[in-house]
Amino acid sequence: MLPNVLQPSATDHVPVLANEVRESLAVQPGETVVDATFGAGGHAALLAADLAGRGKLIAIDRDPTARTYFERFDKRASVQSRLLRGDFGVVLPQLAENDVQADAILLDLGVSSMQLDRPERGFSYSVDAPLDMRMDTSQGLSAVDVVNDWPERELVTIFRRYGEERYAKQIARAIVRRRKEMPFERTGDLVDTIRAALPAPARFGEGHPAKRVFQALRIAVNDELGSLEAALPAALAMLRPGGRLAVISFHSLEDRIVKQFLREKERGCTCPPDFPVCVCGHEPELRAIERRPIKPSAAEIDANPRSASARLRAAVKT
Ligand SMILES: C[S@@+](CC[C@H](N)C(=O)[O-])C[C@H]1O[C@@H](n2cnc3c(N)ncnc32)[C@H](O)[C@@H]1O
Repeated sequence: MLPNVLQPSATDHVPVLANEVRESLAVQPGETVVDATFGAGGHAALLAADLAGRGKLIAIDRDPTARTYFERFDKRASVQSRLLRGDFGVVLPQLAENDVQADAILLDLGVSSMQLDRPERGFSYSVDAPLDMRMDTSQGLSAVDVVNDWPERELVTIFRRYGEERYAKQIARAIVRRRKEMPFERTGDLVDTIRAALPAPARFGEGHPAKRVFQALRIAVNDELGSLEAALPAALAMLRPGGRLAVISFHSLEDRIVKQFLREKERGCTCPPDFPVCVCGHEPELRAIERRPIKPSAAEIDANPRSASARLRAAVKT
């Protein structure tokens, strides 16, 4: 097992699949590492330790509060590092266009514990707070705009597509009815409306009744799937031959995008099977490190229940 260096304090985000990420990225001294989801810098600290004082770490995060964590990281890290604040779906393509190259790139998707646990960010259905859910607090669109302004059919679509919510229609209808009387402002009002729209058995089913709608709103507000789709080809373009890409996803929609991207880039020839010779000339661009996604151990889930749904996929540029 790799030694853990610079572990964050108990109140910070606990980096998930930390050793598995380090093993997959196999960072060597002198390399350039991109942590595209810096958060509290938990993974970054471990990857910087692997650089052993030689190399560069580029951190990216769209949340302005990441700067405080980055400053703490930068003071302790013995490597050259800088923070680029922005959406990795925009920043990675910009880096690739400017011919910035990397040996290891990490995307640890979704929200951090610090975002989830700060009531004022409005990500949580368990505390009453303003309906916000923006990772980048300077962004215009927030959850309150989606809930109060989007047409009913669009709400149905996002609840179904991003939340896999069975009662999407009933919930969207109840939201539209309630907002005509009084616009939504707080998470608590939304939770009450969702609860009341569900048939009784669903209200007491597995998990919180608002969980799927909250997930859907968060994905829509932050255009999480769009950013991921834009980031993956840019990350591949930035990697040097032999460079490694690792992506941790927390729900099936993200994992499907990552899996399909890796499959497509692992495939060589794309000619129809009845062609006698290859005419497309496609070469595989990536080689998966493991065929199946890596999941957290029972011990990790015990210690950090939020890691339970994490899936790590990693590949090497050929
Ligand atoms: C799960 S946390 C990462 C935690 C980090 N690996 C650590 O160990 O502390 C995800 C972080 O990525 C950021 N993030 C999510 N999507 C992003 C995007 N499209 N662009 C930039 N940052 C993003 C979030 O703001 C959050 O800070």
